Amino acid sequence: MKRKFFIDTDTASDDAVALIIALRHSDIEVVGIGVVAGNVPLEMGVQNALYTRELCGSNTPIYAGASQPLSRELRTAQFVHGIDGMGDIGLDLKGRQPDVGDAVDELIKSAHEFEGVLELVTLGPLTNIALALQRDPTIANKIKRCVVMGAVADHIGNVTPVAEFNMWVDPEAVEVVLHSGMNLEFVGWDISRKFAVITQAESTMLRAMNTPLATFTIDIQRVLEKFCENETHLAGFDLPDPIAIAYAINAGVADEVREMHLVVETHSPTTEGMVVMDTLGVLHQSPNALVVTSARHDVFMSMLMDALEA
Ligand code: BDR
Ligand code: CA
Repeated sequence: MKRKFFIDTDTASDDAVALIIALRHSDIEVVGIGVVAGNVPLEMGVQNALYTRELCGSNTPIYAGASQPLSRELRTAQFVHGIDGMGDIGLDLKGRQPDVGDAVDELIKSAHEFEGVLELVTLGPLTNIALALQRDPTIANKIKRCVVMGAVADHIGNVTPVAEFNMWVDPEAVEVVLHSGMNLEFVGWDISRKFAVITQAESTMLRAMNTPLATFTIDIQRVLEKFCENETHLAGFDLPDPIAIAYAINAGVADEVREMHLVVETHSPTTEGMVVMDTLGVLHQSPNALVVTSARHDVFMSMLMDALEA
């Protein structure tokens, strides 16, 4: 039997690649995709997810969720992924209809229907997940595991000096999730920066695959590529959500994982959205998450290439 995944995403250029990896994997059934506001406003994220689903020839339901963080104004990352979130390359990203249902309610339904086996993967701010936990706290023990793309285990941020974007957009939601008792596994932006950078040579190699999905995967990173060159100073563009989903599918993507106690900062203007990880256990608190601290670029690349084949 296939493993059951529910994916929550603020669909932009790297989320789209993560969706491709999951939707095309033969061992995985994605039972639902929830969209949340984050990289782009909700409506845009929904269109991006629908476009990507179509390209994959999938009929996995896609549900719209929260259009705002729990208690803050939305701050997007259109400066990272483009105004449309998909590199502003002129894709036709309008007019498609999401499935009927609210992403939060549908996650709750799936948690009950697939009790003990549902694997949740979050690729955006945690707003939808926090709302689901507030509406029905029992889902925390029904969901087998929740793999979160978020935070930074080395505490080097991509949106402030210490915060990672998904956590920074809705820190109050992170707090709800960290206190929920759910089995949490974090793949931070440090893992992307160190193990999921696609160099120019790799980008050329992926493009040379010459499949519609490979071409799409490279083309939609056009704005991200510039951001990585000028702002995060990487040797190419990085793919945080794809390496998180690759790990969720195949634990062999991780080279090292550690149990730690995590706390999110919700108040300080300097460090808001920072997830403080007690790496050495100096607080002697029980761990509330498993954190990937090292990963395998080669395993990730081979999963990416498998997903992009014709
Ligand atoms: C995360 O933030 C978004 O820009 C990406 O889609 C990814 O989920 C990286 O910090
Ligand atoms: Ca994302």
